[in-house]
Amino acid sequence: MLEVLKGNIVHLPKFGQYETIKKGYLVLDDGVIQGTFQTLPEYYANAEIKDYGDKIITQAFCDLHLHAPQFPMMGMGLDLPLLDWLNTYTFKTESTYKDTDFARRVYRSLAKELIRQGTTRVSIFSSLHREGTLILMEELEKAGITGYAGKVNMDRNSQPCLEESTEESMEETLRWLEECKRFTGIKPILTPRFTPSCTDELMTFLGKLAAERNLPVQSHLSENTAEIAWVKELHPDCEEYWETYAKYGMFKPGTIMAHCVYSSEREMTAMRENGVVVAHCPDSNINICSGFPPVRKLLDAGVKVTLGSDIAGGAELPIYRTITSAVRMSNARRIASGWTETALTPGEAAYLGTSAGAEYFGCKPGFAKGDKLHALVLNDSNLPEPARELELYERYERLLYLMTAENIVARYAEGRIVG
Ligand code: GUN
Ligand code: FE
Repeated sequence: MLEVLKGNIVHLPKFGQYETIKKGYLVLDDGVIQGTFQTLPEYYANAEIKDYGDKIITQAFCDLHLHAPQFPMMGMGLDLPLLDWLNTYTFKTESTYKDTDFARRVYRSLAKELIRQGTTRVSIFSSLHREGTLILMEELEKAGITGYAGKVNMDRNSQPCLEESTEESMEETLRWLEECKRFTGIKPILTPRFTPSCTDELMTFLGKLAAERNLPVQSHLSENTAEIAWVKELHPDCEEYWETYAKYGMFKPGTIMAHCVYSSEREMTAMRENGVVVAHCPDSNINICSGFPPVRKLLDAGVKVTLGSDIAGGAELPIYRTITSAVRMSNARRIASGWTETALTPGEAAYLGTSAGAEYFGCKPGFAKGDKLHALVLNDSNLPEPARELELYERYERLLYLMTAENIVARYAEGRIVG
């Protein structure tokens, strides 16, 4: 079925470069983008037109790193650095997901909130609980969200309330993968929590599984200095943190590594050469005092960078907030560098939170022909009256900084309207 959306189109087909069309047309056939046009081609003249007036039609957001079970602890314990924060708050919170009714309630509200905030694609951590993870996948799928979700593997260095033996971790992962076959929109991703959480035996098993079943992997890398020192103690044979994943075949195309705050040039080269994708999580890096990630350097080194809210290290679920955090974070780095490093522009950060994420899920950047539509319709009429007529990209950037979920008046995911 042909469908035409009419409105002010703002999208990012190239890194940091907007393409805008005032009062333009976006044509869909069964939810698949046919093109964006200033003038509607004759060929589509009989299609139904949905006119969004002066509103902005733009790309939906992608969150490549967040912890679903940490949704209820957002804004808590943010005076602690990573390892203390994990031990004091996080492991206890995650242990409560053995209660499947609780899991259902939290994951239903999280899925609703993701859609409300304009995030239509995710790569998300669950807890170690198999049933809870399946509930998370059900709720995401019901809400219209697509992407990946992972049962967390962690067989050491946790707390008694949140433990699995090596055997259990392996068996439950296999069982979970069997049960995942019923999902269409949300797929499994192997999720060793981070190197300190997994024994060598478990890492060996997960690496083999990733290869045999061609499964993607997500984890954490070089987030915090105490964590990095600990990894070095655990794997004295590895010169750098990334090698503790590479050793087991988990540093491969499609692997998502969150943070990379302290990545050396060598680690960056390894990421580029192995096709590993970074999930940059600026809000989390400031909240739990991890550091200032070298995003410009990662990009210049040819590494693929996306964005993650990393709730609940991050205390903001919306990716439009992560985008503005990424700009602030890179401004801080620029200041600290004595103004030698260039900061990310809002357009560059917005690309990371939209097109770069979409690419991870196999789409092309921007509103590209042949891709299913993931879009938002934004109303900026409640923002302060501008002093002059704004360009469309200015209206978009102002929204990134000032908007709330109330400014989103329609959401499209996988080509259909979801809210
Ligand atoms: N490293 C290992 N687990 C976690 C987690 O839950 N959050 C963050 N930010 N880093 C981690
Ligand atoms: Fe994380």
